[in-house]
Parts: sequence; C-alpha cells; structure tokens
Amino acid sequence: MASILLTLTTLILLLIVISNVFLNRLKQWRLLCKYGAKLPPGSLGCPCIMLGSPEAAKFVLMTKASLFKPTYPKCKERLIGSSAIFFQQGACHAQLRKLVQAAFSLDAVKPLVPKIESIAISTLDSWATYGQFIHTFHELKKFAFDVSVLSIFGELDSCYEKKLKENYIILDRGYNSFPTMIPGTCYFNSAMARRRMGHLIREVMKERREKRLATRNLLGCLVNFKDEDGKTLTDDQIVDNIIGVLFAAQDTTASMLTWILKYITDHDEVLEKIQAEQKAICGANEKGRQQLTWAQTREMQFTHKVMLESLRMASIISFTYREAAEDVLYQGYLIPKGWKVLPLFRNIHHNPAYFEDPEKFDGSRFEVGAKAHTFMPFGYGPHACPGNEFAKLIMLIFSHHLVTQFRWEVVECESGVEYGPFPIPRHGLPAKFWRKTSSNSSSETSI
Ligand code: HEM
Repeated sequence: MASILLTLTTLILLLIVISNVFLNRLKQWRLLCKYGAKLPPGSLGCPCIMLGSPEAAKFVLMTKASLFKPTYPKCKERLIGSSAIFFQQGACHAQLRKLVQAAFSLDAVKPLVPKIESIAISTLDSWATYGQFIHTFHELKKFAFDVSVLSIFGELDSCYEKKLKENYIILDRGYNSFPTMIPGTCYFNSAMARRRMGHLIREVMKERREKRLATRNLLGCLVNFKDEDGKTLTDDQIVDNIIGVLFAAQDTTASMLTWILKYITDHDEVLEKIQAEQKAICGANEKGRQQLTWAQTREMQFTHKVMLESLRMASIISFTYREAAEDVLYQGYLIPKGWKVLPLFRNIHHNPAYFEDPEKFDGSRFEVGAKAHTFMPFGYGPHACPGNEFAKLIMLIFSHHLVTQFRWEVVECESGVEYGPFPIPRHGLPAKFWRKTSSNSSSETSI
C-alpha cells in the first residue's frame, strides 16, 4: 500500500513538473507571438532575450546598434582572431567594413564571373566523373572555399592554396569542439592549424608587398590601406580578417547551395522554370560554348526569386546575437546591461503575418518586395553581410551550370534537417550527378 502511495505521489509530482514546464513554454510562446519578445533568463547559459518581431530586430541591429555589441564566445574569437570585423564596433569597425565592402562590391566581383564559372564547372564535372553518391554539403564547402580564396587572394600559388585548404579543414573541424588546449584534442589541433594559416598568409602578404601589386581583392584592399594619418593595418589585423572572411563565406554559401538543390529537386515545376530560363541564356551563349557574362547573371530573374525563397525557407543564419552595452528600454521593457539579445530571423521569415502560408515554397512571393525588415537573410544594420552580392552571384552561376549541363539524383529517404551548426538537409543531401548528353533526353541541352 505504502509503495503504491509513493508511486502515485511521484507520478503526480512528475505531472506537475511536466505541466509547469509545458505551461511556461506556452507562456513564452504566447509572449513571443504577442510582443515579439520573450525573457527566459538563463535558458542559453546566460540571461537572454529573444526577439521575434521585425521592429525589435531593427531596434537592436540598426536603430540602437551602438548600444548592442556583437559578442562571440572567447574560444571562437581565439580561433578566428580578435581583430576580425565581426568583433569590432564603432570607428574601427566602420574602417574595416569599408575595406571589406570595397573588396566585395559589385564592381570588384564583376570581373570574377569567368573564374567562378570555371570553378563551378570543374566542381560539377568532378562529381559527375566520380559517378557515386557524394555528400553534397561537404563537396560544396570545397567549392565555396575555392571561390572564397579567389575573391580574397586573386591568383594564388597552388602550393599556398593546398596548404591553406589542409589547415582550414583542421581549423573548421575543431571550431565547434570542446575548447581545451590539451594537445591531441580537436580544439588544440584547430588552434595549431589557425597558427599555421597565419604564417602562410603572412608569407603571401610579404610577396605581394614586395611586388607592390595594386589589386582589388580583399588582400590587396587590406594591404594597401592607409588612413589619413598614413597609418596602415597591422599584419595581425589583416590575417584575422582574411581568416574571418573565409569562415563567414564557406559554410553559409555551401549550406545555401545545398538547400537550393534540395528545393528544386523537391519541386518539379520550379526546376522546369529554372531550366527554361537558364536554357535560354545557354542558347544565347552557343549552348554554353561561350562564357557567361555579368549582364546575363542579371537576367536570371526567376532563378533569383528561387534563391530568395530558399534563403527565407532555410533561414540558414537562424538568428544572431548581441549584448546590451548598457541598460536599454524597449517599448517599456528593460533590457539589462550584459544581457544577450537574439533577433530571430527564422521566426520572422516563417511568420504568417509577413509571409502567407510560410511553410510553402513559393518563389513568386518575391515578385513584390517583402515588407520592411521582414526579410533579413543577410542580417541588417552596420554588421549586415558585406558578401551578400558575391554570395548571390556564386549561387546564380552555380545554378546555371547545374541545371543546364547536369542531371542528378538525390537519395529519396533523406528528409529532415541537421545542424552543423548551420541547418543543412539530413546527411548533407547525398546525391549523384551526371553530365547531360543529347542521348539523356531530347529536351536536355547537349554539350
Ligand atoms: C548565403 C550566404 C551568406 C549568408 C546567408 C550570410 C549571412 C550573414 C549574416 C546574417 C550576417 C550578419 C551577422 C550579424 O549581424 O551578426 C553576415 C555577416 C558577415 N558576412 Fe555573410 N553571409 C553569407 C555569405 C557571405 C560571404 C560569401 C562572405 C564573404 C565575402 C560573407 C562575409 C561576411 C562578413 C565579413 C560578415 C561580418 C560583417 C560585419 O560584422 O560587419 N558572408 N553574413
């Protein structure tokens, strides 16, 4: 009898705890829907406020940006380099940002079209030649790395590129591991690879300085910079920002391309329309025998909308975070100094108040512009992505060759999402690729 009573009491207590947790979550969710903000102190290991409304996101990222500093865990900052643009604020940030923006401005990326194109073709060709299922996300990371190296260094000696790549892979592997400097651990290896990358970049810098090359790539912009007092950037500043940009560009671009591939595979009608649009461009280029031009990338209107819709649906940067530098009042709520603030891009992108039927993939919704501050795949305000035009250009060029010259098959049972930490389709979207020939299909482009 006593044991039955004990079991019953335990069960009742358990039920109370579970329902309390559930009610709390429900309350937070209702708060989020009503005010676009919720206050779950300590839920991420530190007090934080989540912002689900466009107005609140704008307030933190733009209107009062100076009161909210970007903060990253120290262990991550150590691997990238504390002088990297992400960690800066105020005048120092503005100065670095001008340089990074100049290196990725439309004028600077336009001349890269033929080279991005040739990297895209050789990447796709290598998949087709391999003839087996590939881990699409991993392969796209290699592609994104090659394209980033091109935009950062311009022409780079293949020996440097090989060593940079080897070390970047080790750095990347340990980036999200437990941060301990004990030899043999992933984090330690990562820190060592980071150091070797620093040495390599310094060597390249030395060569470029000796040759006095005035290039428009990122390295050129950073090395040749002098402020009004004639002060240049330190070598550490240059190295940290180059590694920072490599980091910012790689997983994001690869994850985005993986999602585009997934969405167009899942939606036949979308793929057909993209193919029609790209085939017309390919036809104008003598069935792909001539190179793609910058002007042609501007004609890819439908592909562009599909890309925007993929960015909305996948919301690969689901949120960002800042820390209140002082007590801040927002619509009667106090955001205490030191608290983290997280604008939730994904929640905004999937809110039916801003995007009708948000779980439906529908590129046509971008025929009219999204409401102000409701579409922020590249962030917003002074820290918004300076590489966004470059990222879009890469995606358009890659998509052009993918749909006009290749066929593919995706492992069907693979649905779901994986986080590494960016969301990607489960198992990296295993897929097999073939080059199209006229015998594959009469309607396909022959090459
Ligand atoms: C689909 C691809 C990409 C997406 C979705 C993306 C998204 C973002 C977002 C949301 C931010 C703002 C983060 C914040 O406010 O905390 C950001 C910042 C940044 N991104 Fe990207 N990005 C992409 C590709 C790239 C590429 C290709 C580059 C390199 C050229 C790049 C370089 C940067 C840099 C340097 C920052 C920091 C800017 C600053 O702190 O001022 N990104 N990106």
